[in-house]
Amino acid sequence: MTHTAVDVIRAKRDGHRLTDAQIDWVVDAYTNGVVADEQMSALAMAIFLNGMDTAETARWTRAMVDSGDRLTLDVGRPTVDKHSTGGVGDKITLPLAPLVAACGAAVPQLSGRGLGHTGGTLDKLESIPGWRAQLSVDEVASQLRSVGAVICAATTGLAPADKKLYALRDVTATVESIPLIASSIMSKKIAEGAEALVLDVKVGSGAFMKSLDQARALATALVSIGVDHGLRVSALLTDMSVPLGRAVGNAVEVAESVEVLQGNGPADIIDLTVALAEEMLSRVGISASPRDVLASGEAYETWARMIRAQGGDPEAPLPTGRHKHIVTAPSDGYLTTLDAYAVGVAAWRLGAGRARKEDPVQPGAGILCLAKPGDHLTKGQPLLELQTDTPDAIPAALESLSSGYEIGDRPPTTPLIIDTIRG
Ligand code: URA
Repeated sequence: MTHTAVDVIRAKRDGHRLTDAQIDWVVDAYTNGVVADEQMSALAMAIFLNGMDTAETARWTRAMVDSGDRLTLDVGRPTVDKHSTGGVGDKITLPLAPLVAACGAAVPQLSGRGLGHTGGTLDKLESIPGWRAQLSVDEVASQLRSVGAVICAATTGLAPADKKLYALRDVTATVESIPLIASSIMSKKIAEGAEALVLDVKVGSGAFMKSLDQARALATALVSIGVDHGLRVSALLTDMSVPLGRAVGNAVEVAESVEVLQGNGPADIIDLTVALAEEMLSRVGISASPRDVLASGEAYETWARMIRAQGGDPEAPLPTGRHKHIVTAPSDGYLTTLDAYAVGVAAWRLGAGRARKEDPVQPGAGILCLAKPGDHLTKGQPLLELQTDTPDAIPAALESLSSGYEIGDRPPTTPLIIDTIRG
């Protein structure tokens, strides 16, 4: 049967299911330039408004995977990956990948750069002198065999349909659609070729999904697509109303990750890293105690080998912002709120993030949260330390932070890990 873009758009506009053949055709034709951007924009908006059911979303994902290469990772160990939907201070990939490798699995972690208020794993690692994000597929496989963990940029051949469509959704107000987000994330992860995947679906002010219902719906959609593709997949729903850990930025987050790998660091980072590692290992049938391996220093050894394998010097001093500014507590009491979104925007304004894809980031810019919700403060006590090379940015960062924290009579009680969904 011959398809046309207009027929496919009309079908979805009028609230019908798309057939498998329509989906396969339109994704392929868009990737190859037969369907134009304006036609795909209209279809994305029709999907945004009328949705796609579980089977349509699974087929859409399959078509996006089939638009490019699919890696086969035969590296002599079970392969397992993790994906976070993104948050503020979310540096968990950094300690997690070497930890899971030290426990016996292989972790191919193809990552991205930051855009807006959430940071990017590659930007963080690039603050390590000499470290290189671009690896060939052969280098990825060889490092997985020798070290067990790789964190690097995704190769361009993976899910090219998603690359094109994501850029289009970004400029047509069609990003926030659960079937489109779920198929976008999963097409890249399935193309990466790991046997198992653990998703960290964030919920709260600093996350994509602001409400628990939305986050649960996204987690369910992601897990269901994974199952449809034969992947062992779990999703943890975790809190992102407060920044993770105490450091938000690039070099500061690497430094905090190294602390955790050396057996110290904030409890929330350790707890989430261990919980995700336990889930990843159980999905590939490895019984190990990640908490003990973290405390033993073996995960740090794997980290150092992973950084060296990519040209970095794990012992080199990390950059810090040349200018510092301290925000102090305005009164006595418990810190009840430290809003993830406000801190993320402030760090971004200090230079840690970028507004456009091609902008550089400042490795040394960021924020140290000197207190976290639940801590008792006295008036004048240091609460936040801002770091930047561009002091002119400090007033705009302070403006973002001005309504980002509250002091009250009682400590808050927000669980970090809210639920787990397994496929
Ligand atoms: N991350 C992705 O990779 N895709 C989306 O659509 C949203 C977040």
